[in-house]
Amino acid sequence: MTVAPVRRATSGLQGRCRVPGDKSISHRAALLSALAPGTSVIAGFSPAGDCRTTLAALRALGMQMTVSGDLLHLKGGLDRAGEKVTREVDCGRSGTTMRLLAGILAGSEGEFLLTGHPQLLGRPMGRVAKPLREMGSDIGLLHHDLPPMRIRGAHLRGITYTPDVSSAQVKSAILLAGLSAAGPTTVVEPVATRDHTERLLAGMGSQITVSRTGRGCRVRMEPGELTPLHLTVPGDASSAAVIATAAALVPGSDVVIEGVSANPTRTGLLRVLSAMGAGVESVGHPPGHEVEPVEDIRVRHRPLRAVRIEAEDVPFLIDELPLVGLLATQATGTTEVVGAQELRVKESDRIRGLVEGLRRLGADAEELPDGFVVRGHTELTGGACDSLTDHRLAMTFSLAALIAHGPVEVSGLKFIDDSFPGFTECLGRLL
Ligand code: S3P
Repeated sequence: MTVAPVRRATSGLQGRCRVPGDKSISHRAALLSALAPGTSVIAGFSPAGDCRTTLAALRALGMQMTVSGDLLHLKGGLDRAGEKVTREVDCGRSGTTMRLLAGILAGSEGEFLLTGHPQLLGRPMGRVAKPLREMGSDIGLLHHDLPPMRIRGAHLRGITYTPDVSSAQVKSAILLAGLSAAGPTTVVEPVATRDHTERLLAGMGSQITVSRTGRGCRVRMEPGELTPLHLTVPGDASSAAVIATAAALVPGSDVVIEGVSANPTRTGLLRVLSAMGAGVESVGHPPGHEVEPVEDIRVRHRPLRAVRIEAEDVPFLIDELPLVGLLATQATGTTEVVGAQELRVKESDRIRGLVEGLRRLGADAEELPDGFVVRGHTELTGGACDSLTDHRLAMTFSLAALIAHGPVEVSGLKFIDDSFPGFTECLGRLL
């Protein structure tokens, strides 16, 4: 356990800040560029450990690239008919790397072994193996569901598929495989998830159509070659949510987060903050972002009230639900999150980890099979919280130190770099 990297705030957070490039968009920008013959140029590429893992995985597959600060030049044209040796690819702790790469390699000639950190080796992969097998790929997993994932690429056929779980990673893996399949590929999502893959595919010349169906969507894509990508990645919506939460927690706060992704499939936490009573507004639209919308967001502290979050809200703030748990400790009333069973198979069991950590801080929190309940308002006493090697829990518990009366200790602070390098400095500049 280490003392949290921030201390109790003596006044509100003030000022303007930027967060690193979006992790989800950066993963996809690199992976899709790898498929596009020619050189793609990506500015604002995320420095997150998970995105560095994706670049290392592409290098292991023979891709050439240069990285200078946050500028990535990647020479695409992944040789999908490569030599027939087994190539082992380390996916670190990144589920997005493993699942999206599986989609790419399913249609590539050769044999591949996708492996990674023990944390990743406990996460379900059957959800991507199932549709990729249906498309014709030969995929082996441990106990039907767990990595390492052995992929023998094949000539694929397009399918129409409704995933069993609401997951952008599953949708993306199928679409990436569909690029090299015979015939069109269609993914039907009963509840729509983040749409970065669809936006980038459209921006890179793919024939893709997206139709909304109530809360869901239907994505249909023709196979085909991609054109190189020229993109400036906006600020990470999930990292911005961390700063927005800090501002909403500490009385007197008034901050602007500049140049952040305003993709509505990622801004669920901002809508929840508004519903809880915080002041949230868009105060600027930086120009030059055609593929992904970008905004400057102002967040002001105001007294918070409880909210209820249902299954159909969950995909738009799946990674921010631990933050909702912390916010709920400072809100009047009972906050309930349901339909979020996916939280149990993230980098940790986030329902168990969150509730245990909040309780150690003095909160009134309880697990549900598919979510959690937090009764507020409570004064947080401080305590020792286990992040379970999970970056999102490590950041959530660190933020608690801003408002707790006693010291907060958190294990696994180094894992914060998996998604938000510079977290401490970014917060520090506003304090
Ligand atoms: C991600 C999708 C989400 C999210 C993860 C990143 C992505 O996972 O939790 O951190 O980039 O597609 P699921 O798609 O499994 O819900």
